Amino acid sequence: MAQASHGQAPPTEEELSRARLRLGLEGPVARITISRPERRNAMTGRTWTTLAHIGRTLPDDVRIVVIEGDGDTFSAGIDLGMFSPEGVDGERSVVAGLADGTTTDAELQDYVAGLQEGFLWLRRPDLVTIAAVRGHAIGAGFQLALSCDLRILADDARLCMKEPALGLVPDLTGTKPLVDIVGVNRAIEICLTARRVGAQEARELGLAELVVGVDELSGAVDDVVAALLATDREAATATKALLQQAAGNTLAQQAEAERRAQAARLTALAKGMTGR
Ligand code: ACO
Repeated sequence: MAQASHGQAPPTEEELSRARLRLGLEGPVARITISRPERRNAMTGRTWTTLAHIGRTLPDDVRIVVIEGDGDTFSAGIDLGMFSPEGVDGERSVVAGLADGTTTDAELQDYVAGLQEGFLWLRRPDLVTIAAVRGHAIGAGFQLALSCDLRILADDARLCMKEPALGLVPDLTGTKPLVDIVGVNRAIEICLTARRVGAQEARELGLAELVVGVDELSGAVDDVVAALLATDREAATATKALLQQAAGNTLAQQAEAERRAQAARLTALAKGMTGR
């Protein structure tokens, strides 16, 4: 495995396997595969803490992260066994200790914060993250796709925010991108009906940048990755950072941010030209 950045060792093959993940590193491209097709790539807390570990230890030369599911499903979301008192394969149950009060509200929120780390890093400006979605992306699976910058869907993709139907709220950082993309009213409708949004509708709503035939998904992802890699990395990072703050800025603030970022770019380019 390539050299990890920031001193921490990357997850071992055994840790990845226990988290139902595969990680492939090919120079600037990291491919993360949710690998549990016999359970429709259902995920557990360990999947997300390991995703966070992957994010913390990505080699510095990685620019693109592609997330996909093994087989014909992106992910059926959280392993429903995580809500049973016994949990999944010895992994702590989400509800452990809640009924008898031995787990406090604050402890539970800390636990969820740790799970959210697996989703938050996908917004890093120095990366472009892509969800390649075949079949179902349900609950946490939909939120994982929403955490990525780009969603490329096969035409059999179905997105579903199932949590409210199960008595839960979506808590894995998916509500903000959903509202940012489709608006609060459509987000209410999608979440509170827990209906499945098909690929074509997802495209119309802006939830997919691209929809292609199932057999074309892999090639389409490769084409987008190649196009992204053709741009200057520093400019791409600065541009993503600018775009991410645009919605929260006034026009004047955004114009100032553009000036500041461009001054840094031009200075770097000028130094490159003069070799200083
Ligand atoms: N957790 C645990 N096991 C699951 C999950 C899940 N989320 N999803 C599927 N599986 C298992 C099934 O129990 C089944 O196991 P079995 O072979 O031992 O019976 C196997 O995966 C295959 O599932 P099927 O239902 O037979 O597959 P099908 O293709 O017909 O349906 C679908 C796929 C639509 C994804 C369906 O399995 C489903 O609705 N799963 C539950 C989705 C869900 O409610 N997720 C939680 C959302 S909330 C959140 O993520 C926070």
